[in-house]
Order: sequence, then structure tokens, then C-alpha cells
Amino acid sequence: NERMDVDYIKGILQPTPTCAIWDKIWNFQAKSDDLLISTYPKAGTTWTQEIVDMIQNDGNIEKCKRAPTHLRFPFIEWRISSKDCGLDQANAMPSPRTLKTHLPIQLLPPSFLEKGCKIIYVARNAKDNLVSYYHFQKMNAALPDPGTWKEYFEDFLDGKVCWGSWYDHVKGWWDAKDKYPILYLFYEDMKKHPKCEIRKIMEFMGKNLDEDVLDKIMHHTSFDIMKKNPMANYTTISEEIMDQSVSPFMRKGAVGDWKNHFTVAQNERFDEDYKKKMMNTSLTFCSNL
Ligand code: A3P
Repeated sequence: NERMDVDYIKGILQPTPTCAIWDKIWNFQAKSDDLLISTYPKAGTTWTQEIVDMIQNDGNIEKCKRAPTHLRFPFIEWRISSKDCGLDQANAMPSPRTLKTHLPIQLLPPSFLEKGCKIIYVARNAKDNLVSYYHFQKMNAALPDPGTWKEYFEDFLDGKVCWGSWYDHVKGWWDAKDKYPILYLFYEDMKKHPKCEIRKIMEFMGKNLDEDVLDKIMHHTSFDIMKKNPMANYTTISEEIMDQSVSPFMRKGAVGDWKNHFTVAQNERFDEDYKKKMMNTSLTFCSNL
């Protein structure tokens, strides 16, 4: 398969189609009632999108099955297929809109913050995030070839992957949450107490749903159900772009899978490097992975 080329936007690697329309992205006009889901790639975006859609539709599963995830949530800086420019999709969407981005905070189109849009940010621990991203790049022709595991490991630590450094991404959004209406969530918490996190999202969205609806949302957005849901598992995307025989989009959905990938030496090197990169922040991740 042909692989995607990348280029830098203000020091951050991006797929070339994103670079080509960067001015348009930067000048995107958000509306005050837009809800934005922001993540570093592979931190639990699709999961959060399904939760948000279920909350917005009061737990109506059929409504959430009206279209695949990428059409329900325009991805502002990216097009999943050549026909689906995220910006055009967003501009054509009636309000209130639900949008998706992976941009680091400094590359976010300023109008999102100026308009005071609500933003849900989800962070996932770096080790599992790295592993998930590696498998995703292997199966996704819309991203560069990740190379070997060993090479990818170093690229991730160096921030030489699309959407840039995981470390800067999670820290940048963490700092912004005190100034803007940002709900900052963790993938690990969502795994541990899904209902509690779903309730947080509901309250942030200004909704009030009954317990039985929350239970229904929790069930519909569980990994096993989403893996089987063609409107949530990206199987509507052509195999030329996402080859799910290489690695399924709904791969494992677990905390701690890094242990099946990291060598002891890699883990030591990772931890040492992590300490340096994360010493200037109050952001911490659950240590029991
Ligand atoms: P793994 O590759 O570790 O399995 P994103 O949606 O940001 O691209 O993130 C994808 C990751 O989230 C994948 O991780 C995927 O399996 C996981 N995921 C998707 N839906 C999930 C769910 N309902 N529960 C737990 N993990 C989920």
C-alpha cells in the first residue's frame, strides 16, 4: 500500500494533506455551542465519541447508529478518505456540532478557545498509548509506516510522530484546563469506573439522564459491544486505508498491554526519559498499570 507523507507545521509532524490546508484549519470558525473532543491519537477518542453521542441522544442506540463515527464527528484537521474533508463536513453540520481533533493545544484553531467551546480531553498513559499508536500506524495507510517496533519506540520518545510529542500534548492541554472549559479525563479511569466517568461527561454537557439510561450507555460503549458495532469500529473505511487484518481498530482496549511489548531495557530507558519530560508538570497518571 502507498503510505502517507508527512511535513512539519510549527514543529509538529502532520500528514501532508493537513499541511496543505493548514491556513484553512487555523482559521476554522468554531461556534460557541460546539463540543470538541480532543485527544492525542489512540487515547480513547472513539470511545469518548460514542459516550458523548449516546448522552446527546438520551441513550437512543438507533440514533447513534445513524452513521459511522467519522461522519458523526467531523475530524477538523484531517480527512479519513479523500471525499471527507473534516472542515467541509464540520461547516455543513447543523448545530450543536460535535467535533474531533488531535491537535496539540498550541495548534488548535484559536476560535475554539475564543468562543468558549466546551472541550473534553482524554489522556491515556504513555506506554499503552505508544503501543496502540504503533499498531494503528501499521494498519493505517493514511499515516506513515511506523518502521520496526524498536524504531517506533525511539520516534515516539522523540515526538517524531504525527501530532507530535505525547508529553507536550498531555501537558499542554493539562495547563489549558484551568483557563478554559475543558473536562480532562483519563482512559484508565474510564476503564476502572466507566459509569462515574460517563456521569462526569453528562454533567459537563449539562444533561441529566436517569440511572437506567447511564447503564445502557455504559453497556453500549463497552469495548466488546463497540468492537462488534460497524458504526463504531471503523470497518466502514476501505481496506486500502485501514487494513483491519493487520490490526483491528478495536484492538485490545486494555490497560497495561505495554508489558507485552516493552523489553526490560526499553522500560528502564522509557522511565528515565519520562521522569525528565514530566518533571515540570503537576499532571500524573495512575501508577499501577
Ligand atoms: P488499543 O489499540 O490499545 O486496543 P482512538 O479511538 O483514540 O483511536 O483510540 C483507540 C484505542 O482505544 C484502541 O486501543 C481501542 O481498542 C481503544 N478503545 C476503543 N473503544 C474502546 C472501549 N469502548 N473501551 C476501551 N477501549 C476502547
